Amino acid sequence: MRRALLFILPILVIVSLAFTVFGVIQVRYEEEKLMDDLQRKANAVCETLVFSARHILLNNDLKNANRLVESFQKRERLQGCVIYGKDAKILAITERISDWQQKDRPYLNDVLLNKEPRAAFEEFRGYSVYSYILPVTDEESNALGLVEVVYDTSFVFTTLAALWKRLSLSLIILLVLIVLVMLLIQRRIFTLPIVRLTEWFHYFQKGVTDMPHPIKEKSELGKLASEVEQVALSLRVARRTISDEALTRLEKEEIWTEAKLRDLIHAKLGEHALFVVSNREPYMHVIDEISGKPKCLRPASGVVTAIHPILCACGGTWIAHGSGNADRKFVNSKDKLGVPTEDNRYILKRVWLTKEEEEGYYYGFANEGLWPLCHNTHTRPIFREADWQMYKKVNRKFCDSVLEELPAKNPFLFIQDYHFTLLAKMIKEKRPDVRIALFWHIPWPNPENFSICPYQEEILDGMLGCDLIGFHVQNHCNNFLDTANRLLESRVDTEKFSVVRFGKETFVRAFPISVNGHANGKGSFKVEPEREIEKLRKEYELEGKIVGIGVDRIDYTKGIVERVLAIDRFLEKYPEYRKKLVFIQLAAPSRTHIKRYHDLMGEIDELIEKTNWKYMDGNWAPIIYLKRYFSSDEIEPFYMLADFCVVSSLHDGMNLVAKEFVASRSDLNGALILSQFTGAARELTDSIQINPYSIEDFADSIKLAIEMPPEEKRRRMENMHKQITENNVYRWAANIIVDLTALKNIQA
Ligand code: G6P
Repeated sequence: MRRALLFILPILVIVSLAFTVFGVIQVRYEEEKLMDDLQRKANAVCETLVFSARHILLNNDLKNANRLVESFQKRERLQGCVIYGKDAKILAITERISDWQQKDRPYLNDVLLNKEPRAAFEEFRGYSVYSYILPVTDEESNALGLVEVVYDTSFVFTTLAALWKRLSLSLIILLVLIVLVMLLIQRRIFTLPIVRLTEWFHYFQKGVTDMPHPIKEKSELGKLASEVEQVALSLRVARRTISDEALTRLEKEEIWTEAKLRDLIHAKLGEHALFVVSNREPYMHVIDEISGKPKCLRPASGVVTAIHPILCACGGTWIAHGSGNADRKFVNSKDKLGVPTEDNRYILKRVWLTKEEEEGYYYGFANEGLWPLCHNTHTRPIFREADWQMYKKVNRKFCDSVLEELPAKNPFLFIQDYHFTLLAKMIKEKRPDVRIALFWHIPWPNPENFSICPYQEEILDGMLGCDLIGFHVQNHCNNFLDTANRLLESRVDTEKFSVVRFGKETFVRAFPISVNGHANGKGSFKVEPEREIEKLRKEYELEGKIVGIGVDRIDYTKGIVERVLAIDRFLEKYPEYRKKLVFIQLAAPSRTHIKRYHDLMGEIDELIEKTNWKYMDGNWAPIIYLKRYFSSDEIEPFYMLADFCVVSSLHDGMNLVAKEFVASRSDLNGALILSQFTGAARELTDSIQINPYSIEDFADSIKLAIEMPPEEKRRRMENMHKQITENNVYRWAANIIVDLTALKNIQA
């Protein structure tokens, strides 16, 4: 609209100017005409008056003089008339203008003297009147007196004002017509072709149409349309070629790499790109508190760790909540941006939530309700009706955002986690052709535990909108099937591992998630590791010390309190390790608006402070607590310098810290102490497994990790490293894609 105004405004200004000039000329002309008329009329009247007045003046007939002036007052617009004697004194005056005699009239003597007529505008009773005077002479041309007629001129102004009014009205009508016509023309020759071209491009690249572009003319627009068509065509052809080549390569390679996954996705999904939805976004723009400038962060999240390498490998669109306070500055008009920012590999689409939506859906229902419901940590889930309503509303919002993006033919949608239990069903209602997988990144509780959720049926029903649901381990799958069987009217097929409800079948499978695994054995370092490690050793005075590492979000499921208690017990029980052990805890604050998380932060601060105080000796204290967000590049040197890593979750779907630690130890050194309540414990069987609730055993496990003979450590690390390299995140994604596309074929 603003552009249309820019186009129309100058035309309106020019037309208005031209019209005003024309108006002024027209009014002037009209004014002159009226005045001319008036003058002629006054002249004629005055001459008639002179004729009668001569006789009256010659005979000094005052009676007839008065009768004469009174008879003239009936004439149109004539205010009155006056007869003067030869001494310029009034002999008779129309009564209506009797106060005319009070007026100063120095011109009378001039007219008597020069015997010339006089016409002029005079002011009378605050108005302008027209006075016309003629001398009355005898036959020898001697002045006998004067006659004067006084005309009302207000009609001239009224007529001119009416004319201006008419002209202004015509101008307004003309301007409105011009605006309408211009808008129509603009729409016809500019907007409509662009709209048609955009629509065509949208559908062509989604694969809905094969028609050539709709702009026929040979104009500049036509040329642009042809260029757009070429780009769209090349894009299609390139996608098809890539897909064929990918199939051939796939058969050759063995270990799952980024390239192999890319080939698989191109081969299986063909032209159709992958769509991912999660709550947490892979890149977040926030204002740096110190510099006040925006910076880009990679949030601490298992989902981000796992999904990011996949989208980097094969492209696609990731739709997530734009939660960074500077996020809006970095998106285009469709709320999208290419990421990673330095090397755009996929599209991130940000969905905006209001404070109330975030509060109810994310903090409330997802993290105070579902999160504790699914984790066995004895934290009571809180279910509020208002939170549930917000959760539904936000799922709907994401549904609309996803639907806007999906291509026409057989799209694949990969939903992440407990934030979107209702999304699959909502999407299927509008687009039953979309193949949907949901991966549940946290544990699934047993039916008794799940049944305390007041919204159990809607949640299960929403999830069963998926074609495939993935959990980390078989146990979670079994729990889910049991839950569906017990709490929902459905048929569970234990042979096929599927749930059938209202004729719709959903397959349930275990896909143990992983990290990228550094298959080349060199680690993923962007910086020189030795230099970074040296820097850390100096900074934290680690020279000659045994170093333990813990990396967590500050969450009650992570067993951080138990970890500190175990370190305390270890130093109590084995005092020979005092001044020798340093445990570094990297802790990213998380969900701090929730009271339970806020309290936990205080509890951990206090406990670490107390433990350090208990054992502090000179410069040495057993625990270095670094409470802030760390990027993966910052974390890796910590992993590499550590003698052991502790993962002591009280309950955890998988725990990728354990796998990242192992992946980063291509030197095959270091020990992993791992809670038996993590999904990772099933795969990393060579870790030192602990029950984090048993502080005594936990403390002994620290001793075991420190004192383990190097060959034993190496053997264990080698096995674990191999396990992670082979079962990396590319294999995880490949398994899901293969299963999902296989389902598609079965169901087709
Ligand atoms: C777990 C969840 C993820 C979540 C992550 C971080 O790994 O499964 O979905 O992203 O925790 O939590 P946050 O609430 O900060 O996203």
